[in-house]
Amino acid sequence: MRADIVVLEGDGIGPEVTAAAVQVLQAVATRYRHQFQLHRHLIGGAAIDATGEPLPAATLQACQRADAVLLGAVGGPKWSDPKAKVRPEQGLLALRKGLGLYANLRPVQPHAATLGASPIKPHLLAGVDLIVVRELTGGIYFGDKQRSDTSASDLCEYSVAEIERVVRRACELARGRRSHVVSVDKANVLETSRLWREVASRVAREEFPDVTLEHQLVDSMAMHLIAKPRAFDVIVTENMFGDILTDEASMLAGSLGLLPSASLGEGKVGLYEPIHGSAPDIAGRGIANPCGTILSAALLLRHSLGLEAEAACIEQAVAAVLDAGVLTADLAPAGEAATTAEVTAAVQAQLDLPCHVAELRD
Ligand code: IPM
Ligand code: MG
Repeated sequence: MRADIVVLEGDGIGPEVTAAAVQVLQAVATRYRHQFQLHRHLIGGAAIDATGEPLPAATLQACQRADAVLLGAVGGPKWSDPKAKVRPEQGLLALRKGLGLYANLRPVQPHAATLGASPIKPHLLAGVDLIVVRELTGGIYFGDKQRSDTSASDLCEYSVAEIERVVRRACELARGRRSHVVSVDKANVLETSRLWREVASRVAREEFPDVTLEHQLVDSMAMHLIAKPRAFDVIVTENMFGDILTDEASMLAGSLGLLPSASLGEGKVGLYEPIHGSAPDIAGRGIANPCGTILSAALLLRHSLGLEAEAACIEQAVAAVLDAGVLTADLAPAGEAATTAEVTAAVQAQLDLPCHVAELRD
């Protein structure tokens, strides 16, 4: 297969973790005889420095023409002056909006080898397999913003259609899993949440009678996620609740550095990025965990290119590397950390071995 993939390194550790994922994509291309054309473009702080804009028109156009987009991370202290007119994060939000990527999938499957790295007791974590579907192009992130000398406001708005499509996506996903969806809101306080709950109930009842839908308030959900994470299959929620709950959920896996994400819309182009930020404190030191981005590349192969065996192969390779104890500093016992390059090389070496899923295809 031939595919055009836009690579957006962004800021901080972004260039390091995308380089790792690109190396893995290239290994997959060689092994399975695919041709991935990589197109590098600017986003975030790097784009502000070069062009004055966080999402240059050339970047958005390239992404719109591509089959998929792989992104590192954006932001950093250099651009975080609260008075600044342009911010790196605006580039990411404009890209998600510009590509119509309303559903952000964030799977969480703690791995046996990293259970000890989680602050949560291992017996609560064994067997956890959940996925958060975060609404990504609406809500308080995109509502009207006002600022005066003495006050500020951010409008949170959702339309019925925006809720319907993301709930549908969550229910469809649940069908391929354990057919259980928990919709998270704050319906005891927020009008947008009351609408969310009403629409979610109707979509599930009318279109997915085979899927069980439950509702949870976001505050108690924050507690249940830690207290009984095995109880969850698919979790669907609005933009900001999803942002917060997925950082919390990353602790189930032991490190923010392990979690990938896929952002999807109606079209085929998807955006794939780790859920972590640009980690400016460790940028440029070669110690960042590349697994979240490598696993995002696996999601890219699965969701945008339909290459399921290749995606599963990468996931197996990462699992084998974690099992072997090749871990970056966020996961390793003190003094035993591997570098970004070492973890990446280990994943690549695994890809050269016969892969369980690939055997079926060969
Ligand atoms: C994320 C990040 C972004 C978000 C930031 C960088 C704008 O936290 O992808 O979770 O809030 O969506
Ligand atoms: Mg976040």
